[in-house]
Amino acid sequence: MTTRTNRMRGVAVAAIAAVRHPLDVADEFADVQEATRRHRRAHRCGAYAYGEGSLPATVAAAVGARRIVEVGTALGYTALAMAHAAPHARVETVEGDAEHVRLARAEIAGRGCADRVDVLHGTAESLLPGLPSDGYDLAFFDGFTPTAEIVGELHRLLRPGGTLLAGNLILGPSPAVGRHLGDPARWRTHSLGETALCVKRG
Ligand SMILES: C[S@@+](CC[C@H](N)C(=O)[O-])C[C@H]1O[C@@H](n2cnc3c(N)ncnc32)[C@H](O)[C@@H]1O
Repeated sequence: MTTRTNRMRGVAVAAIAAVRHPLDVADEFADVQEATRRHRRAHRCGAYAYGEGSLPATVAAAVGARRIVEVGTALGYTALAMAHAAPHARVETVEGDAEHVRLARAEIAGRGCADRVDVLHGTAESLLPGLPSDGYDLAFFDGFTPTAEIVGELHRLLRPGGTLLAGNLILGPSPAVGRHLGDPARWRTHSLGETALCVKRG
């Protein structure tokens, strides 16, 4: 490849990077995100901090959330970001890994948020059915891969007009999840790439 072609390729990559990250948004919980990365590397687990907590946080603020349910706490990065952005909200965040639960509770207590952020220890499959229907303004799915069962539960938990952020669609949702999130009788949906933004109809 010529030097000129190489230079042009560098310019193109820089331009794409600028488009993908046009703003430098402050992140109050960047240290928790970094702690999550360190934990994952050391323990080779599935604690992948969400790319930018500013998305669930900004949605929590935009909808004036008072009650939030999250699947996938890891060390509490996005739970804290949402609680911070919606200061009148209670956050219930579900985590199946006992070590993540312990670390998240410590992070949350260290930020003085333990009275508003509950880390529920167990699988989403076992815990979501025990939560109240139409009880939540915002649901954030950040477990490994959304299943139709979990998406159906999150739909039940949201009040009509409530918002679901469904992350980790990067591998493509299963056909059943795709049909659910794309069903106009259930949701008004916009795809943000690997995350879908869905408002419950009704
Ligand atoms: C992608 S990480 C969550 C990242 C977190 N929201 C953040 O931004 O730091 C996924 C977490 O979900 C947990 N998890 C995955 N599937 C789950 C399930 N079905 N029920 C409960 N927790 C689950 C994993 O143990 C892991 O800690």
